[in-house]
Amino acid sequence: MDRRSFAATAMATAAASVQAAPQLAIDGGKPVREKMLAPHFYGPEYYGEEERRELTEVVETRRPFRWYSSGHGTPTKVLTFEQEFAAHMQTRYALAVTSGSAALMTAVAALQVGPGDEVILPTWTWYSCYNAIVLMGALPVFAEIDESLGIDPADMESKITPHTKAVMPVHIEGVAADMDRVLAIARKHNLKVIEDCAQSMGAIYKGRQVGSMGDINIFSLQICKTVTTGDGGMVTTNDPALFERATRYHDLGILRPPHEKILGAGKTGMFPSSQFRMNEFTGGVGLAQLRKLDMIASALRKNTNRVYEAVKDLPGIRFRMRPDPKGDLGVGVFIQFDSKARRDRFRKAMAAEGIYARPSSGSEVLPIQPHIENKVTLHPAWPSFQTERGKAIRYGAACCPRTIDILDRCACVPLDPKFTPSDVDDVITAIRKVYPAVAA
Ligand SMILES: Cc1ncc(COP(=O)(O)O)c(C=O)c1O
Repeated sequence: MDRRSFAATAMATAAASVQAAPQLAIDGGKPVREKMLAPHFYGPEYYGEEERRELTEVVETRRPFRWYSSGHGTPTKVLTFEQEFAAHMQTRYALAVTSGSAALMTAVAALQVGPGDEVILPTWTWYSCYNAIVLMGALPVFAEIDESLGIDPADMESKITPHTKAVMPVHIEGVAADMDRVLAIARKHNLKVIEDCAQSMGAIYKGRQVGSMGDINIFSLQICKTVTTGDGGMVTTNDPALFERATRYHDLGILRPPHEKILGAGKTGMFPSSQFRMNEFTGGVGLAQLRKLDMIASALRKNTNRVYEAVKDLPGIRFRMRPDPKGDLGVGVFIQFDSKARRDRFRKAMAAEGIYARPSSGSEVLPIQPHIENKVTLHPAWPSFQTERGKAIRYGAACCPRTIDILDRCACVPLDPKFTPSDVDDVITAIRKVYPAVAA
């Protein structure tokens, strides 16, 4: 072929491929689906006979309080839930509490984090992480996230001072933090690790359940989580001393006989504490939901993996970094764009195709929240900000430019464990149609 006919053929091919690109719905083309496809809260979609039976039993036995049922021969629902939860999460102990926020306070209290101590947490997480540290009188120190949307281990290490007592990796939106690096840094600097698994129950990191690697770890059972009791939380640990302090902290300082039986004689006495006990209704529903966790997680993972596989060949596509892709819970497919404008156009174009796409959600960029930037506390003399370090520390946008940039460029197409194969096909078709048009 001579140069002229080669050029003519190339131009014809290019024109044909332009013509072949389907017109986006946002530009007047036919949408992939007429009715918007968006996920539901997973747990309640799986409510059924099992949850009903647990609730009915509590009503019929008239034993809604966890400690007043133990004299009746059968273990209480909350105790059974704790034991099955510990076994599932590959830990020695689990403690049921009223929420993930209560679980965080219990974990931080069990570690005896207090005035003068610093705890490092990621910039992109939920208020409860920051609150638990401040409510114990300690100082929160933020570390930036990386493209996993989880804590950046290198930035975390750079924030360690002689006052740092613990680090709090948070497993964000179904993806485990880079735990090998986090644990190695914590070990090197003799720090405690609190895994926050609220958003990722059922995620795995290199064969280990999230919530089994830190010194003490927490989960949430709130409506947006993998399984739900409406509200509720769990604490896990392998350390008997931490379990004792946690159970005492969640129950007015008391060590009750069922937990004493698990632990042997207590090693500490009472101390002033909170009251975060779970009731039997919640424990029963938690138990029924826990028994469905693997089913929900594997359905979710299957749907999400199908999408990741089917779009990975799109030229230039870049996904969220996943420290262990196989263990990703699969709440969605996360795509990184090179600008916020392209990310926003992708979301709009996907919506026009009938597929919901959102930014990463369920967290806040904490350092830029006005009450955090201004270090507002319950009382003006709150210990967190009275130390030299507490007075000097500055929050605000200047401490998290990378976090803001990464989040601005991130889109998530959320999946649902109950999406049908044809729903998943539609998600794939929409991404394949929209991404090349907006990312170029
Ligand atoms: C990362 C993280 N930690 C803790 C919590 C607190 O859980 P709860 O709402 O059960 O108090 C949440 C809730 O969304 C969360 O996302």
